[in-house]
Order: sequence, then structure tokens, then C-alpha cells
Amino acid sequence: MSKINVAVFVSGGGTNLQAVIDSGIESANIAVVVCDTPGVMAIERARNHGIPVELVNSGDFESREEFERQIVAKIARYDIGLVVLAGFMRILTPYFIGRFANRIINIHPSLLPSFPGTNSVRQALDYGVKQTGCTVHFVREEVDAGPIILQAVVPVTEEDTEETLLEKVHTEEHRMLPEAVRLFCEGRLSLSGRKVLISS
Ligand code: GRF
Repeated sequence: MSKINVAVFVSGGGTNLQAVIDSGIESANIAVVVCDTPGVMAIERARNHGIPVELVNSGDFESREEFERQIVAKIARYDIGLVVLAGFMRILTPYFIGRFANRIINIHPSLLPSFPGTNSVRQALDYGVKQTGCTVHFVREEVDAGPIILQAVVPVTEEDTEETLLEKVHTEEHRMLPEAVRLFCEGRLSLSGRKVLISS
């Protein structure tokens, strides 16, 4: 089976990167990890698996687009077919999104369109919802608003704290993100308006 070269973008712990690595998706080659933050655990995880890391520090650039142009230049040689945002804490500009049109996916820790933005698990807990979860979606210019590929539900109990709920959401993320990568790389996702169709 021919493989799609995947770039995973990270900023922190990289547990979702780890889940994608560990799932050993046959149709995907994790060609490079792009990181905007020096010294984070995600870098170590990539290096442990011999995956090249391109560290591009956003603080070194005057604009978001310059930062992204540097990333594009650094990943040019990997022939990337899919960009996976796995805890990448930067909002992408139309330049980058256009450059990889319909080839960027993001994992978000809530059932979108509820609780977009940051601190979504805290927001869900404070709101008092009985269920939350996570979403993998295509990336559009509007933050956390692209077509939804997969969602998983996590029940919220009265005993839940931010920590316990985060752990439950993470467990679902680690199952769902590799599944979305696999579906994309097997060519099973298509778009109909803002609906994502999954072929069998
Ligand atoms: C995940 O909860 C993801 O939904 C959010 O950032 C977090 C990244 O965690 N976008 P990790 O770096 O994969 O551990």
C-alpha cells in the first residue's frame, strides 16, 4: 500500500502524537514532527522513534505568516500529504491553510461546536454539561469550525474534576485521532459542503 507522508504539528506533551505513532497506521508515514516550543516532551517522543523534528520558534518571526513560511520551507522536502495538528497552539493564517487545502486536520477536546477555543474541558465542566468529548475536524480559517470528521462522547459525572475529565477526554482522543488519520490516508474521506462523508 502506498503511504501518505504525514506532518504532525505539536506544542507540548505530545500524547496524541504518541497515539498516532503507536497505532502503526499502514497507510501513513509520519515523515516529520513540527514543533513551535523548545524543550517539550513531544520532541523527545518523536526522537525516540527516529522521526525528524523541525523546531520553528514563533518568537523568532515578526508575523504569523513569516513563521508559517518558514515551516513550509522546512517541510517542503518531505512531500507532505496530510498535516495533523495534535495540540499545536497556534492559529493558522489563510496562507498556510490555502497551502494545504483540505489536508489539515485538528483534534479538539470538546464536542464542537460547543466550547471552541482554549480550556474546553474546564468550560464544559463549568457549564454543567452531562456529556462532552472530542472532535477531529478539517481546519478552516474560522477557529475550531471546520467540517467534522469524527466525534467521541465522554460522560461527565458529578464527581469529575478538570483533571479526571481531561483524562477521560484524552483516552478518547488517543483512539480517535489515529482513526481519523487512517481514514484520511486510506482515501476514505470526502467533502459534501461542510459534511464529511466516510466511505467503507
Ligand atoms: C489535546 O487535548 C488536544 O485536544 C488539544 O491539545 C491537547 C494536546 O495534548 N488540541 P497532547 O500534546 O497531545 O498531549
